Amino acid sequence: MPDPRAQRYAQALALYERNDPGAAALFESLLAEDPAHVAARYKLANLRKEAGALDAAMAGYTEVLRRDPAHAEAMNNLGAVLQMRGDNAGAENYYRRAIATNPGLAAPAANLGRLLQTLGRIDEAARVFSDALERGLDAGLFGHLLDAASGHGSARAPVSYVRETFDAFAAGFEQHLVGELRYEVPRRLAALVLGDNEGGEGRRFDILDLGCGTGLVGDALGAVAASLVGVDLSPKMLEEARRKGRYSALHEADILEWLVSAPRDRFDLVVAADVFIYIGELERVFREVARVLRKAGKFGFSVETCVDAPWRLLPTGRYAQSDGYVLDLASRNSLRIGGRVPVEIRGGVPGMLYFAEKC
Ligand SMILES: C[S@@+](CC[C@H](N)C(=O)[O-])C[C@H]1O[C@@H](n2cnc3c(N)ncnc32)[C@H](O)[C@@H]1O
Repeated sequence: MPDPRAQRYAQALALYERNDPGAAALFESLLAEDPAHVAARYKLANLRKEAGALDAAMAGYTEVLRRDPAHAEAMNNLGAVLQMRGDNAGAENYYRRAIATNPGLAAPAANLGRLLQTLGRIDEAARVFSDALERGLDAGLFGHLLDAASGHGSARAPVSYVRETFDAFAAGFEQHLVGELRYEVPRRLAALVLGDNEGGEGRRFDILDLGCGTGLVGDALGAVAASLVGVDLSPKMLEEARRKGRYSALHEADILEWLVSAPRDRFDLVVAADVFIYIGELERVFREVARVLRKAGKFGFSVETCVDAPWRLLPTGRYAQSDGYVLDLASRNSLRIGGRVPVEIRGGVPGMLYFAEKC
């Protein structure tokens, strides 16, 4: 005879993994009957954290740790909640405890190193990343973070780094970026590429969204799309975009690999919102974007800005490009820059929006 509580937990877990909002109520009802169900309590705290209910998330993780003091994932996530609330010392303490409790867990090492980087403690961050590499943790992820901390990096972020970063971030992405950091790049890029929508009110476009993530560009441009194709490396981000039902096709692929195999003259608009922060050197991307655009087709994209090099890997693990580099790339690829607007990309990070037209 199957245990009804185990069945209910399995059902709640299936909803949780599909990001179905019904999961929270099932975990709650399970906990009402069985308050000692630590796994249900932990998942419920995760749902609270992703929904931005930080007090409830903190209370949940604290209770998990009271019942199971060696729950390293709860320590890590409690650290993340404290960091979101601005308590960096508390966050550092919990990340370190999580690493000491389970040195095989990647998340607290990545979180601790990133926190130390943002606090300017770059040498300590580098040590956290190199220790993680020595323990045999993900070489793509920690190799890239170590490169960033030591200031010399490869021309783009490794596939595994991008995939893991965004798979982990997908469920809370819009709440964090749009809700907390007032992220507006997709909406503003859409306004820039559409301009006065020459060709009339009813004109529809074939649109390519590079690094589409959860589909915020689709939200902004869906109404003028004849077709809307999204490409992204993160399956979890793509799942969120798929749920919105705006895209005619979504491809799990690297931008450059996908572009190289796409037909020439296929799109009227190509958009890359907050994606070139993961690709430093953009030579081949620009060449391929120009190839897939129709004549007079438009390309809207954003970059974080740097001034002292064509492109640079920053201690944050993201890339920045200089205005001169972008203008040079555009002119060498028959892309006439029609507009550029300085912006705050997210939470005070300086950047630039560009709009170019294929000559
Ligand atoms: C900061 S998010 C922006 C998402 C979306 N464009 C928006 O503005 O909301 C960056 C996205 O680019 C994707 N990405 C980064 N590098 C990529 C690459 N080389 N190929 C495909 N997708 C990539 C990530 O998986 C992530 O979903």
